[in-house]
Amino acid sequence: MAKQKYNYGMIGLGTMGRNLALNMSDHGYSVAGFDKTASQIDAFMQNAGSREVFATSNLVDFFNALESPKKIIMLVPAGKTVDLIIDELIPHLKANDVLMDCGNSHFTDTDIRSKKLEKLNINFMGIGVSGGESGARKGPSIMPGGAKEAYENIKDMLEAISAKASDEPCVQWLGPGSAGHYVKMVHNGIEYSIMQLISEAYHLLKQVGKASNKDLHDIFSKWNEGVLNSFLIEITADIFEKKDELSSGELIDKILDSAQQKGTGGWTSEDAMKLQVPLPVIDIAVTMRDISAIKQERIAMHKILTGPGVINTYDKDSLINWLQEALYFAIIASYAQGFALLYAASKKYKYDLNLENIARIWRGGCIIRSALLENIRTAFSQNPGLSNIIGDEKIAKKLMGAQTEIRKVIQIGSEAGIPIPGFMMALAYYDSYRSEWLPANLIQAQRDYFGAHTYERNDKEGIFHTHWEAKK
Ligand code: 6PG
Repeated sequence: MAKQKYNYGMIGLGTMGRNLALNMSDHGYSVAGFDKTASQIDAFMQNAGSREVFATSNLVDFFNALESPKKIIMLVPAGKTVDLIIDELIPHLKANDVLMDCGNSHFTDTDIRSKKLEKLNINFMGIGVSGGESGARKGPSIMPGGAKEAYENIKDMLEAISAKASDEPCVQWLGPGSAGHYVKMVHNGIEYSIMQLISEAYHLLKQVGKASNKDLHDIFSKWNEGVLNSFLIEITADIFEKKDELSSGELIDKILDSAQQKGTGGWTSEDAMKLQVPLPVIDIAVTMRDISAIKQERIAMHKILTGPGVINTYDKDSLINWLQEALYFAIIASYAQGFALLYAASKKYKYDLNLENIARIWRGGCIIRSALLENIRTAFSQNPGLSNIIGDEKIAKKLMGAQTEIRKVIQIGSEAGIPIPGFMMALAYYDSYRSEWLPANLIQAQRDYFGAHTYERNDKEGIFHTHWEAKK
């Protein structure tokens, strides 16, 4: 039994839950933990040291340990587990209690759960938390959605534990219902995209530029000091110098080239398809993880299918410079696509998102934090109705300034037969988006030809259909 009442409850004392609880405790919030696994409770108590915490696997004791109204955070694997736990909690929850799901739940699940709990007057909040284990411990970026009034009860705590960027907390109430989880999903879509682009740059540097791991460490470290400054570039530089503990050389060369995924990137693409928002760089990032995972097929095809191979060599400094610019270009395109989806989803799902706030809270703590987000934030602050950041003059200039280099990089990849579809999609997106005319008139003609789907004309109002097979 607990000797006192605790401010917050934490359900799920895995690494994320544990670290978030310790972060809360560091900021003066007392936390009672619940986990069904005894070893997790032990780990939590051990990590807590002399801190004022309590942990149990008895739900009654857990609830008795919390001050009322209860404020409970769940950090458990997304999916069915969340529903099972909610069902177990419901008999113990009372009106005005706040239940927070801080996992990567699908936004449609969050909507269903919110409605179910709303009927019982229980406030359910879907909260995206980004930053991994160390973010949870030292300050994550936090993306809360749900009832605004409920948010007021947890706001001070979330601001205290969040990352800070230019002294501003990286947390902001984003909107009702599933707004927080939606924004976190798109964050992850952008995350997939940037990771894919970085790995393409690595591929070219390694195979065309013949860069060693030491060179790669130096290149990425240098890039991190310039326009590409970001968490993902920074950790990439670190990765290349990590020695393997099980054999000689660097660990990177021992890791199987088969990427896994929990699904959030794919969810982003799925919903974008549904809302008809083009996200080609994010889509291809998901696809490339899938292609990487069919390793056995790739090995078999490698023996059959031929390609050009690396023939041309390039001046190393030029290659590094072209790739830096190409990455900058394609990363801007990734953010542009993610924010364009948020713009559309905000209208469709009535989230009423403030995109400037989202750029602001992504500047610190989260996986996609980068110097570029400051420019994106400024773009939205100057034009809150911006439907695509490429519409911002300064951002458009950055893209235009790097287009020669990305075209060069694509040429190098294609002549060597090295797959760099992220770069290709970024450029194709740019070239399509700036095209006054696209050959979709032919698609319309074909649709009308075989399916009588009709078409519009560019010189007359109305809907038209043609008997295409009639005598010429
Ligand atoms: C974050 C990460 C985090 C997690 C991803 C990994 O923002 O902290 O996005 O949520 O690392 O879910 O996703 P995949 O397993 O799909 O790569």
